[in-house]
Amino acid sequence: MSILLRLGCFSVLVLMLAACNEREGAETIASAERAVEVPDNFLRYLNDQQGAVLSTDWSAAYYRAVDPISNRTTLQDWKAANQFGQCDEEVHVVFRDAKDLGYGRNMRGCRHADGRVAIFVDNYVVRVQPSDPSNYGPINVEAAISEDRHHKQGTNAIEFTPIDPTDPDSDKVAKFFTFDQNGLRSVQADLDGRGNKPMPQPCLLCHGATLAAWDSAAIVASLAPWAEPGVEETLKSAKLNLLELESFDYSPYVSRYSRSQQEEPLRLLNRFILDTYQQSAARPLADPGHWSADFAVEVASKRYLDQPELLGQVYQDDSVPCGWRVNPSIDADCVGSVDLPSEPRQEGVDLLYKRVVEPNCIGCHSVRGSSAGERQGGDGNAINFSNYEKFIGYSDLIVDYVYHRGVMPLSLRNYEKFWADRCDGAPALLASFLPEFDRYDEQACVITPGLPVAKPGASRPVDTPVLLDASGSLFARDFQWQVLSLADPSAVVSLSSPSSSVTQFDASHEGDYVLRLTVSNLRGSHSEDVTLTVDNSLSPAPSQLTFADHVLPVLRDISYPGRVQRCTDCHSATAQLGGAYAGIPVVYDVDATVYAEVIERVDLDDPENSLLLRKPTRDQHGGGMLIDRSSADGMALYQMLINWIRNGADCGADPLICG
Ligand code: HEC
Ligand code: HEC
Ligand code: HEC
Repeated sequence: MSILLRLGCFSVLVLMLAACNEREGAETIASAERAVEVPDNFLRYLNDQQGAVLSTDWSAAYYRAVDPISNRTTLQDWKAANQFGQCDEEVHVVFRDAKDLGYGRNMRGCRHADGRVAIFVDNYVVRVQPSDPSNYGPINVEAAISEDRHHKQGTNAIEFTPIDPTDPDSDKVAKFFTFDQNGLRSVQADLDGRGNKPMPQPCLLCHGATLAAWDSAAIVASLAPWAEPGVEETLKSAKLNLLELESFDYSPYVSRYSRSQQEEPLRLLNRFILDTYQQSAARPLADPGHWSADFAVEVASKRYLDQPELLGQVYQDDSVPCGWRVNPSIDADCVGSVDLPSEPRQEGVDLLYKRVVEPNCIGCHSVRGSSAGERQGGDGNAINFSNYEKFIGYSDLIVDYVYHRGVMPLSLRNYEKFWADRCDGAPALLASFLPEFDRYDEQACVITPGLPVAKPGASRPVDTPVLLDASGSLFARDFQWQVLSLADPSAVVSLSSPSSSVTQFDASHEGDYVLRLTVSNLRGSHSEDVTLTVDNSLSPAPSQLTFADHVLPVLRDISYPGRVQRCTDCHSATAQLGGAYAGIPVVYDVDATVYAEVIERVDLDDPENSLLLRKPTRDQHGGGMLIDRSSADGMALYQMLINWIRNGADCGADPLICG
């Protein structure tokens, strides 16, 4: 990858922006930067499923599913429904959440003997100035202690209660509510000063849930909304988050709310939370949204001296899970752990955990993934980052998400903390573990996201003329297409609009053409080459590819050499019900739903980043690498799928599949 920097504007980033500003005008800088900074850049799905999930319709359907009889539309009613005041155990703590949103948090938890848990947090923000970072400063904890209603932002609440409100024995799920300053439930809120977002989608995203693109209207109209398709999985996959004591700030003034005075109530809250994990983990593996709590339980118990009961123990700030120690084989508390490497790990992985992964990633990632992903000895559930090997297996995506796109860590305050020191802090330490990382400036500091990234698409066969679409490129203001080499010296080529993101390419001869896309913004430019193999006798022609005729057979048959397994060996309705792949997140053998299930995992804006392709082409997939692009057959299959998506991912005409 070649990154050409405009060094004049670049060596010291922050000062630089100001300097560049003067030279090149504020407006253009703003547009170059905007891509990183738009309000909804954080706390959203990267692929929002064409807007189906990030809408207030979805929010309304969610609340209908978790509160079908509308007795939780105000905070007061919510507390009454959860019987605050009559809890078997009740806890109160106040701290500042220095890692997440920077709010002062006044938190109350309640547990009933039947396993129901309810926790609500009044959030306090003392606004110094609109959108000023100091809004999230230490003073917020004092406002939370004094319960100063002028600075009360609103209340977040989770209850872990039966999914079916008419059946107290039904499985309990975590239900999320957000209330405004006046205690009224809201379908949108501005959590990070970046504008309103529909709620509680960001809550769910941070709390480990899978957000299904369900039929919101049907859910609102339903008498048993919690049982509508897609709802159960979303509800069952959401979790409470462990409290990381060292990530909080405590009041320096009010000793009752110091850390030492609150160790015990915080421990109790963590025990409530662990309890909810154990209740959900005890369900059958085939249960929708089932997730292996092992890693989260390990993290929690190591923090409490390996005592899962968390009784009478003090929180250990320096604990490291076995999967992240250099040589856990010699540690008594790792005997029998599944995360023992065959030889000691690289020096420094424990530091990587303590300085980067624990503070910036684990909160979300320890509650992500699915049990179906825990392939025997494999990396299926890699997304939970439970050991170094799983984590680093993602190095290419880490480079892409953390350093290129700037979407991970996926929350604003956390992102700011991660980037606080790009020379000696977390970005540099993490980068030192990533092979071939090259985004350093002249001072050997890591460059922040916002540099352009060219995405001309994967090399592929095409018929001409063909529309090239590079709008998935990141932070690109200007586009330039060039033809670098021809299939034949006498070939004549044309590009209809070589300086647009979308251009039509035509060529007189068949064969390979190498094109270069260069994208730029005020911070620099970046080029990427793509080889287009013109073949006008392709059958089917790329634009004729349909889901029903060409893609579905790939998912259901072994019609391509080099593959030993059908996708449907694991991704079937039967497998979903039991056996090694119980609860698998997507199935390909149900005609009526298969197209919708696949489309949810297709990213039309950035086709190569589609989950449909990302999963089977890498080891971080419960089924392992099934489409191996280093083989000709694997590559041909990949390119066919890319061509299908790049041509609009049509379903086709088959009435059974396409309705
Ligand atoms: C940026 C990620 C993030 C977002 C967004 C988020 N939470 Fe949390 N939440 C956390 C973390 C991490 C904790 C653990 C305590 C802490 O670190 O503050 C937590 C804790 C909680 C708790 C205490 C119980 C528990 O799980 O520990 C409640 C209640 C809660 N969140 C509700 C919500 C609601 C409701 C929303 C949406 C309005 C929301 N959260 C949005 C990350 C998030
Ligand atoms: C606030 C929650 C949150 C935090 C913090 C967070 N992530 Fe993520 N991460 C997610 C979610 C949600 C996804 C799935 C996004 C999607 O597919 O749309 C994800 C996906 C990823 C993926 C892609 C995995 C895949 O299978 O596609 C990588 C890699 C990743 N995160 C790395 C990181 C790293 C590294 C950190 C810490 C520096 C981090 N994340 C911090 C929530 C978070
Ligand atoms: C040997 C079993 C197996 C086979 C065969 C298999 N998979 Fe998977 N797949 C899994 C498991 C387990 C998961 C869940 C864990 C994970 O996300 O990796 C999964 C997850 C996925 C996901 C992510 C779904 C989501 O929403 O999180 C996609 C997409 C996927 N597989 C596509 C495919 C495709 C396409 C094929 C065929 C080329 C295939 N898989 C073959 C086991 C398999």
